[in-house]
Amino acid sequence: MADFKQLVFSGVQPTGNLHLGNYLGAIVKFVELQKSHDCIYCVVDLHAITVPQDPRQLTSSIREVTAAFIACGIDPKAHIIFNQSQVPEHAELAWVFNCVARLGWLNRMTQFKEKAGKDRENASVGLYAYPALMAADILVYRATHVPVGEDQKQHLELSRDIAQKFNNDFSEWIARTGFGDAFFPLPEPLIQGPATRVMSLRDGTKKMSKSDPSDYSRINLTDDADAIAKKVRKAKTDPEPLPSEEVGLKPRPEADNLVGIYAALSGSSKSAVLRDFGGAQFSTFKSALVDLSVTRLGPIGAEMKKLTGDPVYIDSVLADGSERAGQIARKTMDAVKDILGFIRH
Ligand code: TYM
Repeated sequence: MADFKQLVFSGVQPTGNLHLGNYLGAIVKFVELQKSHDCIYCVVDLHAITVPQDPRQLTSSIREVTAAFIACGIDPKAHIIFNQSQVPEHAELAWVFNCVARLGWLNRMTQFKEKAGKDRENASVGLYAYPALMAADILVYRATHVPVGEDQKQHLELSRDIAQKFNNDFSEWIARTGFGDAFFPLPEPLIQGPATRVMSLRDGTKKMSKSDPSDYSRINLTDDADAIAKKVRKAKTDPEPLPSEEVGLKPRPEADNLVGIYAALSGSSKSAVLRDFGGAQFSTFKSALVDLSVTRLGPIGAEMKKLTGDPVYIDSVLADGSERAGQIARKTMDAVKDILGFIRH
């Protein structure tokens, strides 16, 4: 396959309550990858409207995710931060991909089944077609690497299938247009480390999520030290002390989750955490986890508050990022139109 320039792309939905799962599963990696790659990070507002949104709330959520990116350490000058709706090529390429993806592929998507629930007839067409838009987000930049949490793995596989089918279906025209044997790279998911699936603090078998009705199920990036301490102390555990080896966590989802969170926050591994805390009671471990969480998350929450207080600055970051992202996306879209045989004026 053709050689593609390495480029990182990822997105976060502006649907309120950014939490520790988003931070450890995705944003921490976004920050790390800036050192080694060119990165594009997107506030995916078009994805947000696949379920009903209050427009005023959506505006402030878009600014909040942008603020979180910056507060966590993403540099909007060296890299790109923007909101999806301002680069129309995302929606344009998504239409092309709607015509490439097969119904059978989308029917397998577990997230659609979960989100649509029992009333599937009443789900929006957008919610169903969502993975094709996600593929367009990545491929409109011909991005090669995508840091995400475990829950996005299936969508990433679909993106690869779409890229592959486009490359195959149009191989002759791709070659004639001068793009060699493949126009799109097959984007690689980056799903690594001890917290690729952070679980609810109330139930270790359920994913930590923005939409859980209990605020005690998650630590929000905007929580203050008191709220963090309360939530960690109330987190569900079992009566046994912590094991000394990782295998001892297997049948204990709540213990496994808290140890994974500690490992990710401290930049170590579960086995290293258990070397320090094996045999300890949860009360001791939870106190250490509160201290670590407050140290790591406190400054982020404070910075987010400061940044969201200056919407003019936030909007200027998004405008600048959208302009730069748009320049790349337009080039891809022009090439796609040539490959498809459309007439450009
Ligand atoms: P979203 O907005 O639900 O979540 C943003 C990122 O956070 C990760 N994440 C988690 N990681 C670990 N544990 C959890 N409990 C947890 N909850 C969420 C997600 O895996 C994700 O990486 N469809 C995507 C957004 C998107 C996208 C893209 C991502 C749209 N286009 C293109 C990558 C590339 C979503 O809904 O993420």
